[in-house]
Amino acid sequence: MWALLDRGDAAIVPSPSYPIHIFGPLFAGADLRQVPMRSLADPAAREDFTGDFFRNLETAWNVGWPKPRVLVISFPHNPTGATVDLDFMQRVVDFCREREMIVVHDFAYADMGFDGYKPPSILQAEGAKECAVELYSMTKSFSMAGWRVAFLVGNSEVVQALVKLKSYLDYGTFQPIQIAATVTMNEAPDYPKEICSIYESRRDVLIDGLGRLGWDIPKPKGSMFVWAQIPEPYAEMNSVEFCSHLVRECDVALSPGVGFGPGGEGFVRFALIENEQRIRQGLHNLKRGLPKLG
Ligand SMILES: Cc1ncc(COP(=O)(O)O)c(C=O)c1O
Repeated sequence: MWALLDRGDAAIVPSPSYPIHIFGPLFAGADLRQVPMRSLADPAAREDFTGDFFRNLETAWNVGWPKPRVLVISFPHNPTGATVDLDFMQRVVDFCREREMIVVHDFAYADMGFDGYKPPSILQAEGAKECAVELYSMTKSFSMAGWRVAFLVGNSEVVQALVKLKSYLDYGTFQPIQIAATVTMNEAPDYPKEICSIYESRRDVLIDGLGRLGWDIPKPKGSMFVWAQIPEPYAEMNSVEFCSHLVRECDVALSPGVGFGPGGEGFVRFALIENEQRIRQGLHNLKRGLPKLG
């Protein structure tokens, strides 16, 4: 964001969002237009996902000054698991080209598509290189969290600006890690498929199990998260209160939706980071601590 935004600029970030998407523009001194996207937050409202998303985007553009220079998106989406198709990406590109905006697509879950779904790259959209850049990280696809190996592709001016900024900040990742990453990509190109099928099975164990408890959640087609509305019998609690209740009564830790922006209130996020056995244990504990379900 330092390469794109300055004091007095503005960026549009959907709410809920991965927290650094919200704080990146702020670190650069820019203004933030956090746009609550009900269609993102509420799986039940996803039928008109595209229409709702673009209506909110138009409003964010039309109201307020200065006009935003940057849009940050990320699909499959953390925290909601929302997914999009290539037509959606084309509309984002058209929207940004018309308004001379740059769109940053964080494609951290590029390889995490379930039930045969393949997440589209924004760079597949026509004209994308005029206005879009896309980030790919090895964190999820190759289980390399914390190694900080990623790359940016797309609009050459933006990529060049980042190269320049990075040259002032550091000399790149520790070389053995870069070499390990290169070898991994060359020698284990199918590893992300394995990882993806592990997340998919965990998703099924979790959501099928929650359904048996009376907590019905639509299955996301991507990401490594399950986003769930606080069940009706507990709806008087906000997301922080509900998560605190689950820690105390069930030894289960979820992320409160409000931690991803005001648009996330009323929801919680499960991360599919435990194995199936541990997920089953968690479900057993949830049954004990949520007697009003069912
Ligand atoms: C949307 C999104 N982007 C990026 C990351 C992290 O990527 P990295 O480790 O490359 O910073 C995450 C991890 O949680 C994420 O959910």
